Amino acid sequence: MKNPTGVDSKEFGLAAGLVFARYFLKTDHLHYGYWPDDLPVDILNLRKAQEAYCDVLLSHIPDGVRSVLDVGCGTGALSRKLIDRGLEVESVSPSPFLTARARELLGERGVIHESTFEDLTLDRKFDLILFSESFQYVKLDRVFVKCRDLLEEGGHVLLCDFFKRDNPGGKSGLGGGHPLASFYRKLEDAGFRIVLDTDLTARIAPSMDLVADFLESFGKPMWDLMLYALESNRPILNRLARWKYRRKIAKIERKYFSGRRNAASFAAEKSYRLVLCKPVAPEVGN
Ligand SMILES: C[S@@+](CC[C@H](N)C(=O)[O-])C[C@H]1O[C@@H](n2cnc3c(N)ncnc32)[C@H](O)[C@@H]1O
Repeated sequence: MKNPTGVDSKEFGLAAGLVFARYFLKTDHLHYGYWPDDLPVDILNLRKAQEAYCDVLLSHIPDGVRSVLDVGCGTGALSRKLIDRGLEVESVSPSPFLTARARELLGERGVIHESTFEDLTLDRKFDLILFSESFQYVKLDRVFVKCRDLLEEGGHVLLCDFFKRDNPGGKSGLGGGHPLASFYRKLEDAGFRIVLDTDLTARIAPSMDLVADFLESFGKPMWDLMLYALESNRPILNRLARWKYRRKIAKIERKYFSGRRNAASFAAEKSYRLVLCKPVAPEVGN
């Protein structure tokens, strides 16, 4: 997804999402949120859902963990919670924009490595490597070998993210996520054993209905308004631009404004999982 001439489009999306979320929702989290039964699905409750997610994730940290590598730390909000719990935390962030925010949030307490996980070189190891909705961004081919190198003996990997279902039931155009079957295969090939694997799809998917509502109630009217203003004020330029970028425009309209991105399509196409795994100890003599 790297654009050699400019900013990576996914990183741009995350940074733009953060600007929006911080201003309107007063949240620093960049994850979807976890919806317990008693929390109404409402944009004003998103922050509560995100806090609930943090609680669920952190409750799965195995006993005895003292050091954590938080991969793809976003704004550092989760790293800060880990530090507050007395854990020794180092964070990984390839995005200059998000790293700046994480440095602000963590101050002197944070050790942030400005790198992708793939390019990370460290001369120390950790009890836990955490991927909170950052796993889909790392290269599946290399991730477990790298984790093995960075884990203390007896250490774990804890990840929470969505994967592509093997036989998706729909076609919403919702991108992202490694194929679930490849994930399990790579994990096994790299000599990892699953300690716990929980399907959280139904708890996470409601956030997609909030996205759908946002696109329908805000995104589409703003888009129409912009096109209307262009047509009214610069009709020739508008027609030229609409013709030149017709494929891009059609793609945007198909992707964001066709009403296909919602909780139901997310649940049909993706599987959101919390996975705790660890390397199988090499056999004695190997
Ligand atoms: C959806 S955000 C999740 C942020 C945070 N962990 C959270 O739960 O709020 C994805 C994060 O993954 C990071 N990321 C993207 N590609 C990465 C890579 N190759 N290696 C490490 N982190 C990566 C992004 O910069 C971003 O911080």
